[in-house]
Amino acid sequence: MIKLEIRRIEGEFERIAAHSHIKGLGLNERDEAIFKKAGMVGQEKAREAAGMVVNLIKEGKMAGRAILLAGPPGSGKTAIAVAISKELGYDVPFVSITGSEIYSAEVKKTEALRRSLRQAIGVRLREERKVLEGEVTEFIPSKQKTAYRQTVRGGDLTLKTDAEEVSLSIGPKVAQSLSRQGVQEGYVVLIDKETGRVQVQGLSQKAPESVRYDVGGEPTIPRPKGPVEKEKEFVHTTTLSDLDRLFHERSSGMLGGGLAALFGGGAERKEIDQETRDQVDRWVEKRIKEETAEILPGVLFIDGTHALDLEAFSFLNRALENEFAPIVIMASNRGITKIRGTSIKSPHGMPLDLLDRSLIVTTEPYNEDEIREIITIRAREENVKLSDEALDLLTEFGTENSLRYAVWLLAPASTRVERLGRERITVEDLRNVRERFSSISESISHVKEYEERYLK
Ligand SMILES: Nc1ncnc2c1ncn2[C@@H]1O[C@H](COP(=O)(O)OP(=O)(O)OP(=O)(O)O)[C@@H](O)[C@H]1O
Ligand SMILES: [Mg+2]
Repeated sequence: MIKLEIRRIEGEFERIAAHSHIKGLGLNERDEAIFKKAGMVGQEKAREAAGMVVNLIKEGKMAGRAILLAGPPGSGKTAIAVAISKELGYDVPFVSITGSEIYSAEVKKTEALRRSLRQAIGVRLREERKVLEGEVTEFIPSKQKTAYRQTVRGGDLTLKTDAEEVSLSIGPKVAQSLSRQGVQEGYVVLIDKETGRVQVQGLSQKAPESVRYDVGGEPTIPRPKGPVEKEKEFVHTTTLSDLDRLFHERSSGMLGGGLAALFGGGAERKEIDQETRDQVDRWVEKRIKEETAEILPGVLFIDGTHALDLEAFSFLNRALENEFAPIVIMASNRGITKIRGTSIKSPHGMPLDLLDRSLIVTTEPYNEDEIREIITIRAREENVKLSDEALDLLTEFGTENSLRYAVWLLAPASTRVERLGRERITVEDLRNVRERFSSISESISHVKEYEERYLK
């Protein structure tokens, strides 16, 4: 089996940490939502809709479409997007940004959007490469110790097939890659001769008994046949955005020609011109015709879409028409509001033409039971213990204020409990932190009350 190496671009730490309990959409084999499964609670209709979206994406029927998750704050829109990414599996790119992120000082907003869109399109390339393949019978890395750390500088490797056994002396890149992937005697590896990229194929059927026992019933594969050195198909998954960078670097003379660079990995990001992108598109199209490339449309998730302005929206709208378009999933907690930078009022602050081509999935506010379950899951995730009364009270806070606020209070309450040398959060701890941290509605009424004294 070949491991795919798509880089998953995750949003900032907080956003992911808040959803770390979510493992998937929690659907059964008939794609129906189970009340509580995979870290998900309730919100059945939206989860089932998301399940359909996942199926369509996997069948390649969603590219160029937009989906809007619409619902009040804290109703699980971001949670559902995270669940979708978990369901898609690792060979489908999932790129997550927030609307406001595109307004950076470094690049134009349309450039930032274009980059994200192209990052969300996977390209699977198949290439005949000169490779070394065999079962490892010996791997001795040579290590060098400096004052701070130990580095692998190279090593000796012996590969065996049914026909021959070859001893090689390997460079740092291959040796480090083998070490990092925990390769030991008995594993079948494939090494791209030119670039040193290593793919671990699996454990050999002829691996020594001790290794097979250690790895504990991992499925085994046959020992390779024929010579160690040969031409063989190498599969590599990258994204349009990575290809852009690569072509850009190549044209500006930063890299040697050929695919070697691609298989060897790229350098840092640079501003990329349209000409380079066109070149990449033509190259990929050609490879698709030759049947050595496949497009894997992924997902671009844009959270907080109301932060986008008219220009960004129309750019998105046009981008969806493109031949290589990902699925765009947006989330909004705004009702009827002005489109940023205009005086036009529209549902979710989005232009009607984009709304019109979007499938809309709505999320509903949670009831008490659901809030209680979600708080319980989060408490377990954060390793926090609550007394029964405390759980009741926190559920009440969640119903009266917001789920997010209730979940958020777990952290300060748990720190307090720790400081006081206790185990469980009590009602008293919650009241204490509740007094010290305002909910949004309290903060708003505070601002209103003292309006005159705030800076304006
Ligand atoms: N159905 C659910 N099951 C389990 N956890 C959930 C569910 N819905 C929300 N959560 C959790 O509750 C918290 C708030 O939800 P989330 O951030 O997804 O809301 P949102 O709709 O994206 O809100 P906003 O509009 O403010 O962005 C998160 O920690 C999230 O993981
Ligand atoms: Mg959200």
